[in-house]
Amino acid sequence: MADIASLGDLRGKRVLVRSDLNVPLDGLTITDDGRIKASLPTIQALRQAGARVVVMAHLGRPKGAPDPAFSLKPVASRLGELLGIDVAFARDTVGDSARTVVAGLDDGQVALLENVRFNAGETSKDDQERGKFADQLAQLGDAFVSDGFGVVHRKQASVYDIATRLPSAMGQLVATEIGVLKQLTEDPERPYVVVLGGSKVSDKLAVIDNLIEKADRLLIGGGMVFTFLAAQGYSVGTSLLEADQVQTCRDYLARAQDKGVELLLPTDITVAPEFNADAPASVVAASRIPADQMGLDIGPDSALAFAEAIRSAKTVFWNGPMGVFEFPSFAAGTKQVAQALTEVSGLSVVGGGDSAAAVRQLGFADEQFGHISTGGGASLEYLEGKRLPGIDVLS
Ligand code: 3PG
Repeated sequence: MADIASLGDLRGKRVLVRSDLNVPLDGLTITDDGRIKASLPTIQALRQAGARVVVMAHLGRPKGAPDPAFSLKPVASRLGELLGIDVAFARDTVGDSARTVVAGLDDGQVALLENVRFNAGETSKDDQERGKFADQLAQLGDAFVSDGFGVVHRKQASVYDIATRLPSAMGQLVATEIGVLKQLTEDPERPYVVVLGGSKVSDKLAVIDNLIEKADRLLIGGGMVFTFLAAQGYSVGTSLLEADQVQTCRDYLARAQDKGVELLLPTDITVAPEFNADAPASVVAASRIPADQMGLDIGPDSALAFAEAIRSAKTVFWNGPMGVFEFPSFAAGTKQVAQALTEVSGLSVVGGGDSAAAVRQLGFADEQFGHISTGGGASLEYLEGKRLPGIDVLS
């Protein structure tokens, strides 16, 4: 697929770059700038080529109209700090401010447009409405570079439609991410261990479905464990439970057995009487969760078993925390899984979103892992075997 070089001489050209700068914010403070850092190589490459770089991005899910709570302004400041230059910030997406800011750019300079989701056309399901917004965006650039891996599974104006209007190329981040996902799906080195966590089974059904026959071992943790435990006939107290998915989990357990895939569930659980950082934690057998307790982490025996399975693998993909890692008393399972990933002698991949935030919050450095994906939803959809519109449109 075409990279930036395919766009020819970029000196003096306005290049629109779609990045994924959807970072967690606490008020105006960015609590994890991993996605901003990941966007730098492509932006720097374009600057070095003499382009006038216009970054498009979204933050959160505003309702198609300006909303100060979702402004990208703090992100523009951080991007500027990391690049070591002033990043001009447009207070709108395709209005007067955007036009003025873009017209004022010199070769090698960078601007960031306000949250593209402030315009209803960005996420519209109506092709015409999306197309109209893409037309307006296209007027701000001479070429388009797709580098927002976290959004390539979205058929949205600044991801998909824009690429049908301007000469387009793939940025370095998207190329790296797709390269790693290919390694996971096309002949991974074995043993191949997949670790899935997070709260809901229903979010992971398609990926379990697709990986159950590709992985040698599937390790399940996080809130979705309890639906699997219920499928085995255990009561789960007040833990998270998706009653309508119990039968599906039962089917997965049977299928894994049929195919000779080891589906590892925790044998012990760290429980508490309520969902609270200070709630008193205790450890119980997974088959004996008391009626008035909820599971908030996998237990220590399970964490050891999971860590051992991970360490002995040659390829590992991990998506979703093992417990409520934000509360120190319930972070141990996630921490041990992360630690084991750092000790894998083959390829270890942390899949986006919560898991990426978890490893950083727990004090691990990005370099300790083979790859930390910037896109949770996008990488899962790829692993589910789905087509990604933002990638397809580039080829
Ligand atoms: C993400 O956070 O996974 C990406 O930025 C995509 O965001 P979205 O799920 O709101 O499209």
